[in-house]
Parts: sequence; structure tokens; C-alpha cells
Amino acid sequence: RRRAAIFISGRGSNMTALLRAMADPTYPAKAALVLSNNPTAPGLGLAAAAGVATAVVDHRPHKGDRGAFEAELSRALAAADIDLICLAGFMRILTGGFVDQWRDRMVNIHPSLLPAFTGLETHARALAAGVAFHGCTTHLVRAEMDDGPILGQAALRIRPEDDAKKLAARVLELEHRLYPASLLRWLNDDITLDNNRLRISPLAFFED
Ligand code: GAR
Repeated sequence: RRRAAIFISGRGSNMTALLRAMADPTYPAKAALVLSNNPTAPGLGLAAAAGVATAVVDHRPHKGDRGAFEAELSRALAAADIDLICLAGFMRILTGGFVDQWRDRMVNIHPSLLPAFTGLETHARALAAGVAFHGCTTHLVRAEMDDGPILGQAALRIRPEDDAKKLAARVLELEHRLYPASLLRWLNDDITLDNNRLRISPLAFFED
């Protein structure tokens, strides 16, 4: 089984979904470490309660020195013998050097149907744009933010009564299903890439 580190910055609900999946010994990755850049992330307590090792690598003492921050990340990853990184609400940008080192071994979940709505405030922006469909995406991480081969997407139809908060909650439920399922498929099938895209269709589901 792959030894996974789950990177968080806050609540950790996607982390919890991954921990639950990884607790099954037949799942191809095992949660070896939960790492947060934020010492007060609520997800750290949830991980500890689930019996998973935790680490804090605070970005603040490094003040603008991303290299020093990432050197500390790398030390924590090496100490836990990690070979897969799952970003789960990790709100720091990683440099191209770090991303390249983890090429095809680092996945992310983003709360929109990429390539639409990269960055923050995705739900409010989807509503403002008047799109009919919205959702979430899992992808392999590349140096460009919210970019990289798509592993899976889950979509929903925006309802007239949706505001940003309701929409966030509806998408979050999809995220919790999409992340473990699309990672499972990527790890199990050892799907190859062609021209920086999966050679087969990404995992996809729609909830009306
Ligand atoms: C999730 O919605 C995740 O998709 C998003 O942050 C939230 C974290 O919630 N990630 C990003 O916006 C990444 N840029 P969680 O801590 O409960 O998983």
C-alpha cells in the first residue's frame, strides 16, 4: 500500500473522507501522516482521534521563504516515508520545484468543475456567472494552480434556491464521495497519461 500524507489547513472534512476509505486494508493507500500548515486546524484533532500521526509545518516563521517552508515539509515527508500526497483543503501554494518532485504522486480536490473557477470563492463565482452546472474536481497537481490531469469530476445542477452557502454544502457532499473514489481508481488501475491527460475518461458522476 502507498503511504499517504494528507495536507490540510482547516476543517478537514475531505481528510476525514480519505481517512475512512484508507482505514479499509484493501484500499491501495494508507494514511501515514496528516500534515497542516496551520497549528490550529480543527482537522488535526480529528486525525489524532482517528489514530493517525500528525505534523504541523507552520509557514509563518518562514515569511515569504517558500524554499525553507518546503524543505521542512520534505523533512516531515521523508521521516514518515511518504510516497503519495493528498491535498485536502491545503491553502498554501507550492513551488514548481516541490510540485515537480511529486509529479504524478500528488493529488488535489478543488470545489469547481475545472477548468472553470480556479482559485477561491468558487461557489459565489459560479452563482454570479449564472452557470447551470457546478461541482468538484480531483486532479494530479502541476505547477500551475488548480491545473493538471483530471482524475474525476462530480457535478450537480444549480437550484434557484442555492446561495453560496447552500451550494458549498451540496458540493462538499460530492467532494467526500469523489475524492476517495477517484483516488482509488487512479491508484488501482495505474492509469497512464497521454499528453498530460488520463488515457481513459475521468471518473464522473452527476447528482441532480
Ligand atoms: C474543500 O471544499 C476543498 O475543495 C477546498 O477547501 C475545502 C476544504 O474543506 N479546497 C480548495 O479550495 C483548494 N484551493 P475541508 O477542510 O473540510 O476538506
